[in-house]
Amino acid sequence: MSALAFPHTEQARRIGDDERARILADSGFGTYFTDFMAHATWTADAGWDEGEVVPYGPIQLSPASAVLHYAQEIFEGLKAFRHADGSVWTFRPERNAERMQASARRLALPELATDAFLTSLTALVAADEPWVPAPTTEESLYLRPFMFASEEFLGVRASRRVEYYVIASPAGAYFPRGVQPLVVWISDEYSRAGAGGTGAAKCGGNYASSLLGKAEALEHGADEVLFLDSETRTNIDELSGMNVFAITADGRLLTPSITGSILEGITRESVLALAADRGLERVEQRLAMSDVLEQVSSGEITEMFACGTAAVINPIGEFRALGGSWTVGDGGSGKTTLALRQEITDIQYGRIPDRHGWMTRLV
Ligand code: COI
Repeated sequence: MSALAFPHTEQARRIGDDERARILADSGFGTYFTDFMAHATWTADAGWDEGEVVPYGPIQLSPASAVLHYAQEIFEGLKAFRHADGSVWTFRPERNAERMQASARRLALPELATDAFLTSLTALVAADEPWVPAPTTEESLYLRPFMFASEEFLGVRASRRVEYYVIASPAGAYFPRGVQPLVVWISDEYSRAGAGGTGAAKCGGNYASSLLGKAEALEHGADEVLFLDSETRTNIDELSGMNVFAITADGRLLTPSITGSILEGITRESVLALAADRGLERVEQRLAMSDVLEQVSSGEITEMFACGTAAVINPIGEFRALGGSWTVGDGGSGKTTLALRQEITDIQYGRIPDRHGWMTRLV
């Protein structure tokens, strides 16, 4: 088996300097893509090849590729941040590598070693360095590693050929309205994942199963959908791609415990660490939606927020369901929510010391 080095043979950029500047001035989220992508192939016989950084562009696949039929696919999300001195950093990438390994095990895909995962990020960001936006409060280069079954075969078994890619996309705020309090629709019909299923894995199927719930949320004038556990339909799982937190008037930070049906978010984990530094009492437990709504109504819960790599930390201002609506606090952005967001982004952009040792330099 060869070591994954992701060499990059200098090649022309597909997008000129002027167009790139125009894109970076107003990139939105996940709409534009850079000049290059990292790629490696695994086969059951030979393991991983050396990998390569190649021009970004369409992938040629057999219509019989296993991923197109049985959704054997996983992905990750990270960001590259420009610091004031021009250097480029990313946040806790070894946690993404470990989570991708766990997702790979659940989806019967080959694991990619942490150092190979980090090498793929460094190689791509070095090639796409001009795409990393200038340091601001919101702009970064979003990195999307993903892996899928490419064997041409219609039987149901783990693929004997797999592709790994990393693509990059300049990113501003995840939500079109920016960092504004979200209206969250509580889905009474759909769940995202079930016990023993793939809810803890970052696989495309979990996101596909969230789409109808999200569409229903939008129809009700909400920004996001909240899924309850599939078994009892009482406990909070997560949103379509974000974990959920509540802050109480007496200084507790509540979030659903990791039960196997929610994603072990890296922002979630980081928020728990930062909250402990602030003296907030961390409570990871089953959170019944009805209790949370009661405590929102009584004022016992003063703030709620959603978090994830793409969205960072986003206040929740209101819940809606068929039975009514509930305003969180005064419906605005909570003070502690915004302070946690500020702290995490200050660490990411190198504006305050990285006292947890979370940042890794890429370029
Ligand atoms: C991320 O936050 O990076 C994700 O992968 C979730 C998706 C909603 C963009």
